[in-house]
Amino acid sequence: MNTYKEFQLSKFRFTRDDYFAHIYFPTQTGKEMEHRVDIDAFLKSLQRDVAWSFFYGMVKFDDVFGTINHYGTVEVFAGKYHKTFHQSGFWHAEELGRGEVERTFTQMLEDWVSAEFDPFAAPRETGSAVGPKRSSNIDAIHRKRVLTTRIVKQADRQEPEYPVNDGFKGMEFKYGEMHIKPGHESKFGLVNLYEYLARSDVTWNPSIVSVLEHSLFCPTTEEHRLPIKHGNDRVEWFVQLNGQIDWEVCDQKTGDLLAYVRMRPGDVCAMPSDIQHQGFAPERSMLLVWENADPKMPEKIRKGEVPGDPDKMVTMK
Ligand code: PHB
Ligand code: FE
Repeated sequence: MNTYKEFQLSKFRFTRDDYFAHIYFPTQTGKEMEHRVDIDAFLKSLQRDVAWSFFYGMVKFDDVFGTINHYGTVEVFAGKYHKTFHQSGFWHAEELGRGEVERTFTQMLEDWVSAEFDPFAAPRETGSAVGPKRSSNIDAIHRKRVLTTRIVKQADRQEPEYPVNDGFKGMEFKYGEMHIKPGHESKFGLVNLYEYLARSDVTWNPSIVSVLEHSLFCPTTEEHRLPIKHGNDRVEWFVQLNGQIDWEVCDQKTGDLLAYVRMRPGDVCAMPSDIQHQGFAPERSMLLVWENADPKMPEKIRKGEVPGDPDKMVTMK
């Protein structure tokens, strides 16, 4: 028997069964609509949206449902950024308080994620999300991202808590050398980013490893598919450190496919602010995401002070 809880978020209603999350919403046509998402895909997206506090800009769980971060309020939408749904009036969107959305989404994770399923893990590393209600996986859901205030230290990720992931076994980590004037040892440190990342126990979850004003280096290890389609509200940069990631790039408002991008080690890619992107990594790989965390960015872009096109980003006010 299905004993999963049902959730209401303003006019959206969510239920789950063994295989699917069901999202019910009113539409412009006057008819209610039901949208289904595979439960493991839905929970992986939901987990990231909560863990990232709604991220920058748009997080689409799939082509239909998602959120837009307005930094204080959150637009929750269904069908609005899907060309056919939108044209046919089969859409609904509401601007809701961030706390309200966060609470409902967190409760959904706590009730719907089962003990053997880790939404942050690669498929080969976790059990199944499907099936009837059983005990929860509270530790995995509330895992905190690394958020450094300056720069991470190698000691932050070591044995036995953080073993080198199977996907990176055999990788050689070559350290630099430091020769420090006696008395100044505490002021210097070495980090081998490859080893640091090889010990990451999550996928598709950028963690902030260095901060310089609003410039954040957020490297991450990737495997399988980015569970969300990200429509950033500002330009962001990707540097492929190893392995390969293919990106599907679509128009942010309609979902129309614009490009495929294949990134190999050393490749650098700047994503403009009017698209959505989703990455596919056939093997575990390392990606550096470089974000601009200037809180004034959305407003500056709206006013035309900063182009959303990286090609035009010559000077910034
Ligand atoms: C992104 O949307 O830019 C993104 C999100 C998570 C990742 C990598 C990239 O792990
Ligand atoms: Fe992104």
